[in-house]
Amino acid sequence: VSDSSELIRRFQTARRDTGFAVLEGFHALKHALRFGAELLEVIASDSQELEKMAEELAPDLAPQAPRTGVVAIARRPDVDVNEVLGERRPAPLILLEDPRTMGNMGACVRVSAAADAAGVFTTGDNDPWHPDALRGAAGLHFALPVTAIEGLPDSDRPLVAIDPDGQALRPSELPPRAILAFGSERHGLSDGLLGKADMRLGIPMRNGVSSLNLATSVAAVLFAQRL
Ligand SMILES: C[S@@+](CC[C@H](N)C(=O)[O-])C[C@H]1O[C@@H](n2cnc3c(N)ncnc32)[C@H](O)[C@@H]1O
Repeated sequence: VSDSSELIRRFQTARRDTGFAVLEGFHALKHALRFGAELLEVIASDSQELEKMAEELAPDLAPQAPRTGVVAIARRPDVDVNEVLGERRPAPLILLEDPRTMGNMGACVRVSAAADAAGVFTTGDNDPWHPDALRGAAGLHFALPVTAIEGLPDSDRPLVAIDPDGQALRPSELPPRAILAFGSERHGLSDGLLGKADMRLGIPMRNGVSSLNLATSVAAVLFAQRL
């Protein structure tokens, strides 16, 4: 009993500690391992079942990967915000202004990793590394820089507000290395950010539809540019 209560205490502490990432489920652990996470602790409920799934789903990682019914603690990688802003690759950088739901944050990280974006920055109170966001991202936080920022530092990247009231987006006109800013689920982008933006672009929608889901709009813009 004392062993398991000590274990629970360690995981509870890690959930609140911004130095750590708590990974729940096999897919999160799989991606964390693939993208170089430093794992500190892995707990599996059924190691045989886990072994079987790992062989089926991630043969590149078997036999070292622990498998489903699994929870793990990894160290969060440090993110140097200015280094990410200064990266010269033409890839866009995603800025989420005050995102409210963990699932959305996770889905944004997942699609940003898939589209090889330069990173995902968030503002507001919510931790983009929350275990639920990590789960929503299937652990792909380890594939690109993801961090909360207090405010957006100056950089030479163009700032593009992605907003339903913007001018119709034409993917070929999106500047390279743009910071693509997306607003919160309820309120959209703040006036402050809209005022600073170099461009304000909207994803054209059918009449009567007021907006897309946040993560859906991130996916639409990233892949419109990429395809
Ligand atoms: C659910 S929407 C916010 C809706 C909010 N009521 C508004 O009017 O902006 C969340 C974010 O997704 C993006 N978004 C959703 N639909 C969009 C569209 N059709 N064009 C551009 N951005 C969109 C925007 O960045 C928006 O701030």
